[in-house]
Amino acid sequence: MSRPDDTGVTIRRAEQKDAALLAALAREIWTEHYTPIIGAAQVEYMLEEFQSEAAIRRDIAQGYVYDIAYVNRDACGYSATRNDGESHFLSKLYVRKDCRGRGIARMLVNRAVQRAREAGAKTLRLTCNKHNAGSLAAYARLGFAIVGECVTPIGSGFVMDDYILEKKL
Ligand SMILES: CC(C)(COP(=O)(O)OP(=O)(O)OC[C@H]1O[C@@H](n2cnc3c(N)ncnc32)[C@H](O)[C@@H]1OP(=O)(O)O)[C@@H](O)C(=O)NCCC(=O)NCCS
Repeated sequence: MSRPDDTGVTIRRAEQKDAALLAALAREIWTEHYTPIIGAAQVEYMLEEFQSEAAIRRDIAQGYVYDIAYVNRDACGYSATRNDGESHFLSKLYVRKDCRGRGIARMLVNRAVQRAREAGAKTLRLTCNKHNAGSLAAYARLGFAIVGECVTPIGSGFVMDDYILEKKL
């Protein structure tokens, strides 16, 4: 657990037993943020496939590192990273709406950068929906640049229509 700084934010690495907490946070953030971008049906599908309690347990078992950010004792954001060798992958970065704009994403990205460097990676990579304008602007402020795009079918007729972003380490 990192020590609280003057913002009162602490970050700790999640364990399997945190999967239900993370899934609840995912549901709250995704429903609020992504419904206008991709629609309720795709939000529901993706939550079930990728951010249910079972999916998060599976991720952690497969080597994803989830970090949870707290304001006091309130879990308000999280990230997930995966070691891909040359390029570390920032798979998730979500902050609850009422806790945005106070540097929590920056703190989570800093931890991801630290993990990536320790793993010997040269870049931190992520994908972000092309229509997720506010988050793309935040990533630019966090030092990421768009390096490509990809359309990924995820089943049931849904696709992820993303930019690929990279931050050099
Ligand atoms: C994107 C997100 C993670 C940012 O979290 P946050 O904790 O509010 O971000 P921070 O406060 O650490 O801000 C980091 C930087 O981005 C900037 N920023 C944050 N949100 C922004 C926005 N909507 N538009 C423009 N800049 C923004 C901040 O000003 C800050 O830059 P600065 O330090 O140079 O001033 C958060 O808005 C979120 O969870 N969004 C919904 C989910 C999502 O889309 N996640 C990304 C998935 S790919």
